Amino acid sequence: MPMTGLQRSYTLWAPFYNKMVATPTRLARQRSLAQLGQPRPEGPILLCGIGSGLDIPYLPKGYNYVGIDITWAMLRQAQRAIHNQDNLILHQGDVMQLPYPDHGFQFVIMHFILAVVPQPQRVLDEAIRVLKPGGKILILDKFLQPKQWAPLRRWLSPWLGKIATRTDVVFEELSHPNLILLNNSPALARGWFRQILLYKPPQ
Ligand SMILES: C[S@@+](CC[C@H](N)C(=O)[O-])C[C@H]1O[C@@H](n2cnc3c(N)ncnc32)[C@H](O)[C@@H]1O
Repeated sequence: MPMTGLQRSYTLWAPFYNKMVATPTRLARQRSLAQLGQPRPEGPILLCGIGSGLDIPYLPKGYNYVGIDITWAMLRQAQRAIHNQDNLILHQGDVMQLPYPDHGFQFVIMHFILAVVPQPQRVLDEAIRVLKPGGKILILDKFLQPKQWAPLRRWLSPWLGKIATRTDVVFEELSHPNLILLNNSPALARGWFRQILLYKPPQ
């Protein structure tokens, strides 16, 4: 398969990604991942767009994890971050078409991926599909508020979206039928980045 534009960009970003992103996002990551709580034997946890593995140091022990990303260069960084841990496996693949059966994961972590992909609704739909009833989706990303003016971010988004991330995604415009929004609170940059928690009630 030929590389997508984003794959090419993240292949170039990979050697610098941790230096640019680790420090400013550390606290927000820790807060988001603290929501995983004590391990429960209810299936593995999926990290969508695991990237270079900046979440790995903050993942609670006792769970099993699967990390998926489309960019080999980012996955190689993640592999280094794993060291000798045997509770996390990595897959190369597309989060808009997850290669997993329905209802397999008790949590899906989506840190800085929903606003990155060209079709966030497809990624959210896929996350909902693979989530078990009773499971939760943890989102950390940049979103505009509904009807927010933000002309620069809207104007730049078509360009930035091709090389790194979109800047015009409005979370409230994404649909998540039958999921309950448990949290939607500011995480970074005066609320541009938000921490969101969705719950899929048992059927
Ligand atoms: C901004 S980085 C976020 C990485 C990581 N989640 C973090 O918190 O640092 C976005 C990641 O999404 C990956 N990505 C972009 N499009 C993707 C797709 N369609 N499927 C899987 N991964 C994708 C990129 O390769 C990159 O590693």
